[in-house]
Amino acid sequence: MASVPLLELKNNAINPDDAILLFDKGNHKVYWVGTQTGGDEIECNSYLILDGEEGYLLEPGGFDRFGPVFKKICRLISPKSITHLFFSHQDPDICASFPSWTKWNEDVKLVVSTLWTRFMLHYESRDLSGKAHTLNFLKVPDEGISVPLKDGSRLECISAPYLHSPGNILVFDTVSGFLFTGDVGAAMYKDSSFRLVIDDWTTHTQNMQGFHQRYMSSGRAVAGMNRKLEKLPITAILPQHGCIFRGDEVSRFMQWLGRLPVGADYLYPNVA
Ligand SMILES: [Fe+2]
Ligand SMILES: [Fe+2]
Repeated sequence: MASVPLLELKNNAINPDDAILLFDKGNHKVYWVGTQTGGDEIECNSYLILDGEEGYLLEPGGFDRFGPVFKKICRLISPKSITHLFFSHQDPDICASFPSWTKWNEDVKLVVSTLWTRFMLHYESRDLSGKAHTLNFLKVPDEGISVPLKDGSRLECISAPYLHSPGNILVFDTVSGFLFTGDVGAAMYKDSSFRLVIDDWTTHTQNMQGFHQRYMSSGRAVAGMNRKLEKLPITAILPQHGCIFRGDEVSRFMQWLGRLPVGADYLYPNVA
């Protein structure tokens, strides 16, 4: 029997210094382990999936976020038990902390689009003598890959190119039905209050609009993603910034994004 604490979450009852349990079924748990500083930088969501003895960390965060994310994870499992790091794309607010994680487990698998493995090396400080490096990439091609968990369940890596990155992956957890979407669904509020769930839909769309119009590449890329996702039993959408979408907010979000002029369509409305 699954317990889904995510459904009961209220922003004013969440302490962002804690790891927040979102889903719990037997040996399978999902936590928010993100950070909130109230500073000028964009706030980031990181997520931890525990499946039996193994930890899967999604969107590890920037160099500056290693400390707080690490501290939260150490309260739940040994950092050596993190077997996979998932990166929706190549940006520093997602990737820059990974060299700190590989120090704890040099066999950790780095799950990232095939497009970015040669760029990820630049986050490391290493000797430049041309020696082979030892990073253990699990490359995600456009066709996607499936990462098997216990009991036949899976973390499905789904390619959603140009949203916003050319090599962008979404991760679908077949146990919880959670879809981790990176920057898709990101929101930026002007005040520094902590929010992990949506209080008011209209206000939330206002705080998503500018980011999606400028960062997402085109309506065609959005339509392509929506088509790939239409048959998945998604119970929640968990972006890397802003709030989680729960229940019917999932389809509301996909419809909202499908109707919003974004990227090239927004910037060049009169070019055929
Ligand atoms: Fe990004
Ligand atoms: Fe981001």
